[in-house]
Amino acid sequence: MGSCFSARIKAESPPGNGYNSDYDSKDVNGLSGLNSPISSISVSPTPRTEGEILQSSNLKNFCFSELRIATRNFRPDSVVGEGGFGCVFKGWVDENTLTPTKPGNGIVIAVKRLNQDGFQGHNEWLTEINFLGQLHHPNLVKLIGYCLEYDHRLLVYEFMPKGSLDNHLFRRASHFQPLSWNLRMKIALGAAKGLAFLHSDEAKVIYRDLKTSNILLDLNYNAKLCDFGLAKDGPAGDKSYVSTRVMGTYGYAAPEYMATGHLTKRSDVYTFGVVLLEIMSGRRALDQNMPSGEHSLVEWAKPYLNSKRRVFQIMDARIEGQYPVRGAMKTANLANLCLSTEPKLRPTMEVVVRTLEQLQDSNDMGGAGSSQNTTHRNNYHNSSSEPRYQRRSVTETSNGGVSHLTPSASPLRSHT
Ligand SMILES: Nc1ncnc2c1ncn2[C@@H]1O[C@H](COP(=O)(O)OP(=O)(O)OP(=O)(O)O)[C@@H](O)[C@H]1O
Ligand SMILES: [Mg+2]
Repeated sequence: MGSCFSARIKAESPPGNGYNSDYDSKDVNGLSGLNSPISSISVSPTPRTEGEILQSSNLKNFCFSELRIATRNFRPDSVVGEGGFGCVFKGWVDENTLTPTKPGNGIVIAVKRLNQDGFQGHNEWLTEINFLGQLHHPNLVKLIGYCLEYDHRLLVYEFMPKGSLDNHLFRRASHFQPLSWNLRMKIALGAAKGLAFLHSDEAKVIYRDLKTSNILLDLNYNAKLCDFGLAKDGPAGDKSYVSTRVMGTYGYAAPEYMATGHLTKRSDVYTFGVVLLEIMSGRRALDQNMPSGEHSLVEWAKPYLNSKRRVFQIMDARIEGQYPVRGAMKTANLANLCLSTEPKLRPTMEVVVRTLEQLQDSNDMGGAGSSQNTTHRNNYHNSSSEPRYQRRSVTETSNGGVSHLTPSASPLRSHT
């Protein structure tokens, strides 16, 4: 990827993301907490100012010049990806001092550089620091630090060598070998654990932006969630939902959230169901290049999910039939439950984790040691071919409706 065009940040973060930007409000609860390190895992329930967030996190505050050196002047060949926020570069720093080092020395980092196109990006940048500065879990990507200097806003993460799941599922380059069924299930379990942790009483966070490009993989295909720019603190008191403007990505958002703006943990569970379908089928949640009637993965796949005889028709042809029929059926049932139109019928993420764990422990997994499992060879031709960078985002409007589609990770110049 040679050049980085600006891609529009999805939308302005609404108030209530756990912070008050210094740009739009002043400290609401005095300066308590300023300078005090966060000792608890959970996200502070009290909205915090920008100063509090930046000072209380245990993150390194990098100088822009340090990150320039670490990425060799943001060289185009250091770019590992591009999203709505901007480009992501690979760099190196010393493991102990976190000062820049020569390529190949020290530890590898991923540096996300915000396109300098305004206030909305700043909010997402700060929300990311607010949440990832406080939340730590093996299935969440580790934020190492940030940079705020003049117009420069950057985020520095641990580097995830296998990149994001969407590349493995949807790209057809030779260095992306098709993922086996077992690896797919391992990744699904990792992502489910990350989400279950966010929903736990410890964290009480609604993630809102689960999608395959936000699931990063380490060398052993352990999954870690990234991108907390849209995350919200869970409902307070006896409220069952958080009222927000609709944001997220088309194809992933739960129908009741799209209709009402009422956000609950169960909206994340629906989205997990969509991701599980993508993992099984190798198809994108929304794909305008598919034949008519198949644009929406959920609408197309749902009728097949409860039928043992038909479930093979949604399986990714790239698995070449090498999956256990019983395991695939159970996974399809789980996806179907997560995708229930009635939110109360969806399982909690804890239950999802337990179900996927049971699948891993039983001989419903494919591969060695499960020879009594039947694998299925299907004739389904998966026609989603080349990578497409035109992912679409739902953009908030102040009246609670969906305003217009914007490319969230597009090489096209943005519009406002
Ligand atoms: N910590 C990381 N380690 C390795 N690669 C990363 C890391 N973070 C991001 N990437 C790569 O950069 C790409 C762009 O990531 P980014 O989160 O900016 O956008 P996105 O998720 O693709 O789109 P969106 O803006 O809609 O979230 C990812 O798909 C991934 O390939
Ligand atoms: Mg992302």
